[in-house]
Amino acid sequence: MLFRTKVRVRRRRRRGLIILIFLLAVLAFFFYDSSTRLVTEEFTVGASLIPGSFDGFRIVQLSDLHGRSFGPNNEKLIEAIMDASPDIITITGDFIDNSKSGEWAKSLLEKLVEIAPVYFVTGNHEWASGGLVELFAIMESCGVKALRNDYVVLEREGESIILAGIDDPNGYAGQKTPQELFSEIREEQGENYTVLLAHRHNMLETYASAGANLVLAGHCHGGIIRLPLIGGLLDTDRTFFPEYDSGFYIQGSTTMFVSRGLGLIFNIPRFLNNPQIAVLILKK
Ligand SMILES: [Fe+2]
Repeated sequence: MLFRTKVRVRRRRRRGLIILIFLLAVLAFFFYDSSTRLVTEEFTVGASLIPGSFDGFRIVQLSDLHGRSFGPNNEKLIEAIMDASPDIITITGDFIDNSKSGEWAKSLLEKLVEIAPVYFVTGNHEWASGGLVELFAIMESCGVKALRNDYVVLEREGESIILAGIDDPNGYAGQKTPQELFSEIREEQGENYTVLLAHRHNMLETYASAGANLVLAGHCHGGIIRLPLIGGLLDTDRTFFPEYDSGFYIQGSTTMFVSRGLGLIFNIPRFLNNPQIAVLILKK
């Protein structure tokens, strides 16, 4: 009797151990897959202000890469961007996060500019990296346009939209504010449809009061760990359950899209939050 009981307990323990190992393996798989497998996601943005010739215009947004490589020499990333057939490529900050990323940045940017015109705004990590001056020099040599509280006019068949960009608030003090930049834009370009590149996800009120039509932001990394039915768990300012963690948010006539980004931060693997290449398709 005693012998049978012992055998039963041993079997139960073994079964419990097998179930535990299986659950840990499933969890490890999801952490690995969510941190390494790139996904390309397309989103349509409609607005009556978008000129007809920009109907179908494809904007690829890369955010928060943090000096990462997908495959040798970022081959997988380059291939996925090529497959997305962008009209322009935008980089919304935290492209690098330490001063040793110069060579890495050069080799990637040289390939990106062969695909489409590339526009960049700074994130907090570029300012903290100590490598920003070198990065700007590399960008200039590669033909990447850094939008530093500045804008460009994109033209197609005699029609135009505005692409503006602001420096991250981690930058120099006393810079032009988004409101000042938009006053300039409206004065010089009228009410043209304006896309704003801005690293921070938690400044929708500022972007809306400035009058941006579409904002492409990042910084939140999708909340790093995403919980089903809840969303992002951890913001990059170390608070829990960020309000603007992924996707579209609207205030007044401003639509903000927050990318989940591509990189890793705090040495925490991503969970149910694959590195994202976002493709914003303009629709009149
Ligand atoms: Fe950031």
